[in-house]
Amino acid sequence: MRVLTPDDLPACVRLASDRGWPEEPAKWAFLLRVGTGFGLFEGDELIGTTIVTRFGDAHAAVSMVLVASAHGGRGWGRRLVGHALEFAGTPVVSLHATSFGKPLYEKLGFRSVGRVTAHVGEFRGAAPGTSRPLAEADRARVVAVDAEVFGADRSGMWEELFGFAERVRVADDGFAAAWRNGDVTMVGPVVASSAARAAELVADLASGVVRVDVRDPWLGAWLARHGVPARFTVDLMVRGEFGGDRARLFAPVMQALG
Ligand SMILES: CC(C)(COP(=O)(O)OP(=O)(O)OC[C@H]1O[C@@H](n2cnc3c(N)ncnc32)[C@H](O)[C@@H]1OP(=O)(O)O)[C@@H](O)C(=O)NCCC(=O)NCCS
Repeated sequence: MRVLTPDDLPACVRLASDRGWPEEPAKWAFLLRVGTGFGLFEGDELIGTTIVTRFGDAHAAVSMVLVASAHGGRGWGRRLVGHALEFAGTPVVSLHATSFGKPLYEKLGFRSVGRVTAHVGEFRGAAPGTSRPLAEADRARVVAVDAEVFGADRSGMWEELFGFAERVRVADDGFAAAWRNGDVTMVGPVVASSAARAAELVADLASGVVRVDVRDPWLGAWLARHGVPARFTVDLMVRGEFGGDRARLFAPVMQALG
């Protein structure tokens, strides 16, 4: 096992394809910048991955847990996640789990605290214009509100995200970002005082095919009515206790980061 570098990106993308995950080179590159990736190699072949993103000493997100299909069921997944937890060393660790990963995470002390549904489709709706583009002077407030809502300071991630995001919009009671993942505009994070206000932020950012990962049933139904139906659902899992005011976190930055 060794730390992944940008040179490993093509192998990471190949491994994801092997498990039927989409090719997302820009997302992998971003995650390797904001976190630390670990790769499990057999000779030169990459057979397993995980990425750990630490938000200070308080919280870490674990993502991209993959074991090549030809090497599954031999304990590599457990070894990777065990290593990720040791490296994280934080009292709180969270992740979004597929049904494949969930039994493994439960064995390692994670519990499910909710279901998150990915909505994908071509957005049909008008922008209400109740938010405005982020200005330089808004950055500190966005980072501070994000910390209040998420329960940990993610300023390191935001430093990169302000550059990685295509657009960030702010409102009096929240903010939202959109970033590009191949042909899809990913909308997240979305922080708002209510589901209706979250919908306004999404509508102000959405164009073309969008994806938004949501927990709130009202927001999910609103997305479906606007051409963005539910595609798949995962479990939000945590080891330790979530802090923050998570009722205002309507969509994660991406599942890999929470
Ligand atoms: C999930 C994944 C990483 C697991 O990797 P793996 O190397 O096959 O897993 P392991 O062999 O280490 O098995 C892990 C543990 O989970 C258990 N497990 C696996 N699938 C299970 C199931 N369906 N029900 C109950 N337990 C299960 C295993 O028995 C093992 O437990 P043990 O260590 O007590 O024996 C791998 O299947 C994978 O890459 N899947 C596709 C990508 C994915 O969905 N990743 C998870 C993202 S959240």
